[in-house]
Amino acid sequence: MMKKLELVFVPLPAIGHLVSTVEFAKLLVGRDDRFSVTVLVMKGPILQTAVTNYIHSVSASLSGSIRFVHLPHLDSDSSNSHPSSPSPVYFHNVMERQKSLIRDAVHQLILSEPGRLAGIVVDLLCTSMMDVADELGVPSYVFSTSSAACLALMFHLQTLQDHQGVDLTEFADSDAELVVPGFVNSVPARVLPALWVDKEGVGSTAIRREARRAREAKGILVNTFMELESHVINSFANGTTPPVYTVGPLLNLNHGDHHKQDSASDVIRWLDDQPQSSVVFLCFGSVGAFNDDQIKNIASGLENSGYRFLWSLRRSPPKGMIPDSSDNTNFEEVLSKEFLNRTSEIGKIIGWAPQMEVLAHSAIGGFISHCGWNSTLESIWHGVPIATWPIYAEQQLNAFQIITELEMGVEIKIDYNKDRNNIDLINSQEIESRIRSLMDDSNPIRKKLASMKENCRKALMEGGSSNSSIQRLIGDMITNFS
Ligand SMILES: *[C@@H]1O[C@H](CO)[C@@H](O)[C@H](O)[C@H]1NC(C)=O
Ligand SMILES: *[C@@H]1O[C@H](CO)[C@@H](O)[C@H](O)[C@H]1NC(C)=O
Ligand SMILES: *[C@@H]1O[C@H](CO)[C@@H](O)[C@H](O)[C@H]1NC(C)=O
Repeated sequence: MMKKLELVFVPLPAIGHLVSTVEFAKLLVGRDDRFSVTVLVMKGPILQTAVTNYIHSVSASLSGSIRFVHLPHLDSDSSNSHPSSPSPVYFHNVMERQKSLIRDAVHQLILSEPGRLAGIVVDLLCTSMMDVADELGVPSYVFSTSSAACLALMFHLQTLQDHQGVDLTEFADSDAELVVPGFVNSVPARVLPALWVDKEGVGSTAIRREARRAREAKGILVNTFMELESHVINSFANGTTPPVYTVGPLLNLNHGDHHKQDSASDVIRWLDDQPQSSVVFLCFGSVGAFNDDQIKNIASGLENSGYRFLWSLRRSPPKGMIPDSSDNTNFEEVLSKEFLNRTSEIGKIIGWAPQMEVLAHSAIGGFISHCGWNSTLESIWHGVPIATWPIYAEQQLNAFQIITELEMGVEIKIDYNKDRNNIDLINSQEIESRIRSLMDDSNPIRKKLASMKENCRKALMEGGSSNSSIQRLIGDMITNFS
């Protein structure tokens, strides 16, 4: 019998990244029992509790072929105090320091079972970890938890800098539009991830470095599926990137969040009492919080639309503090007693939301979302139309893709960004009219979503696009190793 092949995964220690890594590892070892997977878990600095809880809850259900190795804490300064929005410089420094911990951990693995390491799979946001694979002479792969479009854009922005001498800082707060390979429409600069095109040029240096490095990998795995992003994925076939494998959608289908089940079942019980497709669901991800004026506008937009609603609400934290993901939003302080009284029969306001279970519920008719890629995939999986309200990171790009490229959603905003100074409040009339459009049965986006939902599920089935792509990846991994 052939010896097992070990793959080491290095995800970012953020929940979305970790969950899709583990889901992929499950597919891999489930498909081919020659593989075993070790996931190296960096300590902090972001969302540490969610990560710990997740690992705790998922560990019990994993086969012996997947295991977690917790890296030690980074000693001293920078890991303890971190800015509210980690800058690329800060991030890079932390990753450089993590590298030596990862090197040690991988050495340990090799010592305990020599000759089995078939590759190291690093997160797209820390490709410098590929150095560890290079030192050991093993293949490295890159794993992207965001869209193929985001990957294409990253490569394009690197090419602009390296081959055309473009200074990306000129795209900060600019009305320019970019022609990007793989995109059908030109891409407005205002939907580029703000961290990539900051005025100081810090982000552009960082993505250039990451993208150059990613080109040297043996393959790039993307949490997407062919039918959703075929145009982009086909654009990678020009030989300037490593093979791109579509491996998604990777979703947390068995909801590993046991510690929160009481509040989850309360929400689901409430949904059980609502008519089919009657409820608008609002949820803005782990850092999506609004100031009180914006919250009031959302409230009146919702009420005036007349639709039922389930609203996962977070208030902006005091300046300079990181929003936490706990349920302590005290919405009685923001919303009037009268509003709460008038809507008590048709609306439910919650803190944390069991998002996947909510989207799976037949009472949900539409989703107002921050358009995190993971949430976008979850919504498609359940065929729920999205109204876009991006908050930060690459979410504006995702919103642009949903609205303009895929024509699959309703636009509330595509360029809202929490990090921009003086963001405009979105008024209640606008919110109301977009909710009406989102919930309208005759809106053609419903048909598109229904068919994408089908494609999405087929992709992972025998012979489906992602299923075949993973099969190809397995073959290539074995070839690259031997
Ligand atoms: C997606 O995000 C939600 C909320 O942030 C999280 O609970 C879930 O585990 C994530 N799923 C994946 C596959 O990353
Ligand atoms: C709403 O207000 C009415 C009249 O003041 C009161 O009778 C009712 O109990 C209130 N309902 C809720 C759910 O608070
Ligand atoms: C492809 O689908 C088949 C049938 O569901 C499954 O047994 C197999 O593990 C899948 N392969 C991959 C790579 O996911």
